[in-house]
Amino acid sequence: MKICILPGDGIGPEIISHAVRVLQALDLKFEMAEAPVGGAGYRALGHPLPESTLKLAKESDAILFGAVGDFSLDTLPRELRPEQAILGLRRELNLFANFRPALVYPELVQASSLKPEVVGGLDILIIRELTGDIYFGQPRGIRTLENGEREGFDTMRYSESEIKRVAHVAFQAAAKRGRRLCSVDKANVLDTMQLWREVVTQVGRDYPDIELSHMYVDNCAMQLLKNPKQFDVIVTGNMFGDILSDEASMLTGSIGMLPSASLNEHRFGLYEPIHGSAPDIAGQDIANPLATILSGAMMLRYTFAEAEAADRIEAAVKRVLAQGLRTADIFEPGTQKVGTKVMGDAVLAAL
Ligand code: IPM
Ligand code: MG
Repeated sequence: MKICILPGDGIGPEIISHAVRVLQALDLKFEMAEAPVGGAGYRALGHPLPESTLKLAKESDAILFGAVGDFSLDTLPRELRPEQAILGLRRELNLFANFRPALVYPELVQASSLKPEVVGGLDILIIRELTGDIYFGQPRGIRTLENGEREGFDTMRYSESEIKRVAHVAFQAAAKRGRRLCSVDKANVLDTMQLWREVVTQVGRDYPDIELSHMYVDNCAMQLLKNPKQFDVIVTGNMFGDILSDEASMLTGSIGMLPSASLNEHRFGLYEPIHGSAPDIAGQDIANPLATILSGAMMLRYTFAEAEAADRIEAAVKRVLAQGLRTADIFEPGTQKVGTKVMGDAVLAAL
């Protein structure tokens, strides 16, 4: 079991180190190797996704990823900015299916900005297509028109096969959960999304026992706040999934709690917390390591088929929450505020 460790920028290195310690505490044999990525990759080797880092990633069975993003590098040409590391890995490794669960822990129900009766017991899974859509469509650019004015343009596109493969993944995920799949699109306005709806409907014929519904993305954004528990699994395109998964994360109270998996068709996966590099709190021992620790659990479950070990990590996290330990992002009066390290130690102890 070869794991490529990519800490990245900001709080990435801190939170990754705790996830690594948790994995190493299991009775499993991992081979781990670390490489620079994002702003750290640019500073060390002149590129956000250095060739040596990509090579290491390709030779591994899974990637544990921290976060990338560094404001001080935002003036670089786009291809050298930290975000290109994660986009490049998704593209190069064909990580087309992004799993973003949003789970409300009973202990954290008060941390949500929504009423407890709206979010209590929430357990939804957003499956975001990750290698197509307007993120990667060509042509794109900024051009000068005849009248001298500049115009920016990007291309939203999906091929049938791209829609099909993520739809299959979503139906199969729904089959293991509540058997309901909601496909989110904008078929009332966009041709790409009309095709999306047609193809998802077609794939649905192979899964007669899964209840398929369709929803426009604007309505979905509203329904997620109004009655999020109506959803089981949501499948959507790259850009809508980017936006809706951030929204869904906030239902749970903290983006610092949510892990994610980005998979190709061979169980190879990149596992990362869905929060970013948070440079404003980096190096201060206040970041929440739980999303990264839980990403390690997802890795065990999806890539290594070690469900029991994954359960153990998830149980350890629940136990620490039940003990009342909270990092600043999930703190509320009556609980005990702790730093990154104490939280990581507590998970290890619980494990
Ligand atoms: C995410 C992030 C990325 C995205 C950025 C960092 C490129 O927002 O993983 O959701 O837009 O996909
Ligand atoms: Mg995002």
